[in-house]
Parts: sequence; structure tokens; C-alpha cells
Amino acid sequence: MTTTDLLRRRARLLGARAPLFYDEPLHIVRGEGVWLYDAAGRRYLDCYNNVPHVGHCHPHVVAALARQAATLNVHTRYLHETILEYGERLTSRFAPSLSMVLFVCTGSEANDQALRIARLHTGATGIICTNTTYHGNTTAVDELATLFHGGAGVAPHVRAVPFPDSYRPLGGLAGAALAAAYAQEVRHAIEAFQADGVGFAGMLVCPIFANEGLPVVPPGFMEQAVRHVREAGGLYIADEVQAGFGRTGRMWGYEIDAVVPDIVTLGKPMGNGHPLAAVVTRADLLEEFRAQVMYFNTFGGNPVSCAVGNAVLDVIDAENLVDNARVVGEYVRAGLRAMQDRHRLIGDVRGHGLWIGAELVCDRETRLPAAGEAHRTINMMKDRGVLMGRIGPHDNVLKIRPPMPFSRGDADLLLATLDEVLGRIERDPQ
Ligand SMILES: Cc1ncc(COP(=O)(O)O)c(C=O)c1O
Repeated sequence: MTTTDLLRRRARLLGARAPLFYDEPLHIVRGEGVWLYDAAGRRYLDCYNNVPHVGHCHPHVVAALARQAATLNVHTRYLHETILEYGERLTSRFAPSLSMVLFVCTGSEANDQALRIARLHTGATGIICTNTTYHGNTTAVDELATLFHGGAGVAPHVRAVPFPDSYRPLGGLAGAALAAAYAQEVRHAIEAFQADGVGFAGMLVCPIFANEGLPVVPPGFMEQAVRHVREAGGLYIADEVQAGFGRTGRMWGYEIDAVVPDIVTLGKPMGNGHPLAAVVTRADLLEEFRAQVMYFNTFGGNPVSCAVGNAVLDVIDAENLVDNARVVGEYVRAGLRAMQDRHRLIGDVRGHGLWIGAELVCDRETRLPAAGEAHRTINMMKDRGVLMGRIGPHDNVLKIRPPMPFSRGDADLLLATLDEVLGRIERDPQ
């Protein structure tokens, strides 16, 4: 089957505009650890995929899945030890107040239920998000997808605030003044809800603002913003779909700012590719929700999913993957910063653990986004066997987010390949 045939069949079935990566799409047939293999047997270093968190097709996870699938798979309305064991293990890794769990299948569903819990608790509907974000694709969550809606929420009960950013700072401010200015935006959004007669339910943000382009958040912003939210009776919902499970070098992204959320949502890495996601929240909030909503999810938290979730936690612990993310992530960032001496295109390097962003700019003074160069970079990297993506409001931030067992040797290959690609692009601007 040629690429042309696959593309034709795909377009007829899924739609011609169904998204695909790269100018010449890849046909991947196998994965192992940090490597992906295409139909021609060519291998690619995966610096993009965070869902195969503990490595593609990790044998311990695959064995746990197969074992439980061969024994029993039903839903959560029967008693089952594995479900409880996983729920207890999972919640034990959070701050003590976050003690209960609601299992779902996708990050979108987790955020959808988080919105329901917050709206039910507050009796209000107003939600604050940022102006460059994505939290999923249900009807309620899509209202917050400002990344695809020109920077604004699409409903009167959604208000988007500028995301906190030290590289292109609001009003040219810095430090404490910048943090206060961004937090003021949250306060103004709350006041605007009140002026519109829309009650305020809470703020839903990714604690590392991953889809926003992984900005350096001015210290103190989160604490002040959440204070404004809570003073107005709202809840802080942290979307840990990108940041969670050790990716940042800490178990949870919210630990970076040490502000404990009221509700946390989980997804992507949780099941290493198996559709497992959850809401973790305070006991009072979940009990209140359960008292009023007969919530049931056919697939969410079934014994196979929970066996997989348990196995993912086993591997994170056994292979010290949280430490690895911190150490190797810092190594990659140091390598990228060193490359700034050779490559004028790299305007800024940032991130946490193995969630790394390198912002490409045409000019370091004006910080004009180099989106075309970022596009060329990821395609040329792919041609040389290294997979990465791009993100941010201008689509000019190289997005490096490999499976967690990524080693220093893998990092060296990534850095050497990027060095060569950026050199070529700088010598041959189009
Ligand atoms: C921060 C964040 N939240 C939620 C989601 C939605 O997750 P899912 O695709 O599993 O519904 C995404 C997906 O990219 C995401 O990046």
C-alpha cells in the first residue's frame, strides 16, 4: 500500500482535512521505548509523544494489560480490588486534600466533569481560561479552546485572560509587577462576569501553560491569581493532562508553584496509550457531585484500565523516571542554550523536566516569531529521523516532549541533529 493510496483512503473515510503531521506524512507501524519505526523499517527518535509516557509498548504495561484482559473486563459497578488499589495509589501521590477520584477515558471528559463539579458546587457557570489554550473537545470544553477560536472563549460564561509570559510580557513589565499585572487580569475577568450577571465558578488552566507555548511564568502569579479566584468563591481546576505523572521533574505540575488546586484533571500519560483519564478532587466536592449526579462511565476505570494505570506507576517508580525527566530535561535545555551562541534563530529556551520549548525568532531584539522556520525545522528534523512538534500562539515554539525514558545519549542525537538543521536553515533562508 503506497502513501498515496493510504492518503486517498484516509481522506475518503476521515475527511480531507483530518489533521496529519508533517508535509510528507509518516506511516508508523511499530514503537519501542523512545523509538518509532515506519513501514520501510526506518527508525525515528521520538521527541514528541508524551502519551507513551514510560516508553512505547513498555513490556510491563503490555503484560499487565494482557493479563487483566484475559481475566476480566467489566465496568466500575462491581466490586474489584484493582480499581481500588489503583485509586488509592494514585490519590496518595497528591496533596492530602485531593483524596478522591472519578475515572473517565479522555482528558476532554475529565475537564468536562471538572466543569460540572465546579459549576454544581458554586451554582454558577463562569469559567476563566487563557487566551491561547486547548483543554479538549466536548461541547462544554470546546468553549474554552481559545487556541482555535482566535483567543476568545465562544460562550458568555467563558472569559479568556492573557497567559502569563515573561518573554513577551504584558505592558513590558517584569518580576513582581508582571505577576501582579497578569493576576489583575484574572480579577478583571471575575469582575466582568459579575457585571454581566454571570456567576463565577472557577479558573481552569494548565499549571505549566503547555499549550500556550510553555512560558516562563512570573513568580507569584499563580498564588495571586488563585487567591482572586477563591476570594470570589471560585475553584482552581488544574489541567494536568500535559504536566502530570512526573513529566516536569515533579509528580504534578501544580507543585512548581506550590498552589494546591481544588480539582485536578488527568489523561494522556496515565495509561501509556490506553484510554485512561481521571478527575482527582477534594472529598467534599466529589461527595456533593455524587449526591446530585448519578455519574457512570461505561469504560472509565475498568479493571483493565486500572491494571494498566498501576503498571504505569510501577514503571515510573522502578525506572526513576521523574528524576530522569528532571536531569535529562535540564541537560537538553543546557544544550539548547549553548546552541544559542551559534544559532540566532533560537530566541528563548524554557520548560520543566522533559517538557521543553525552544522559541524561534527572526530577530532577538524584536522577537518577531519565526513560524516558517519552525515549520521547516520540524520537517527537516523528521527527514533526519527525529520527531518533534511546534506550539504556542505563533506556532514558532519547538515542542520537545519525549517519552520519559529519554536518555542523555538520545538528547545528544536530538541536539546534534537540531544543530545541523538550524545551521542549514540559517544559511539558506527561504
Ligand atoms: C492540556 C490538555 N487538556 C486536555 C486535552 C484533551 O485530552 P484528550 O485528547 O484526551 O481528550 C488536551 C489534548 O491535547 C490537552 O493538551
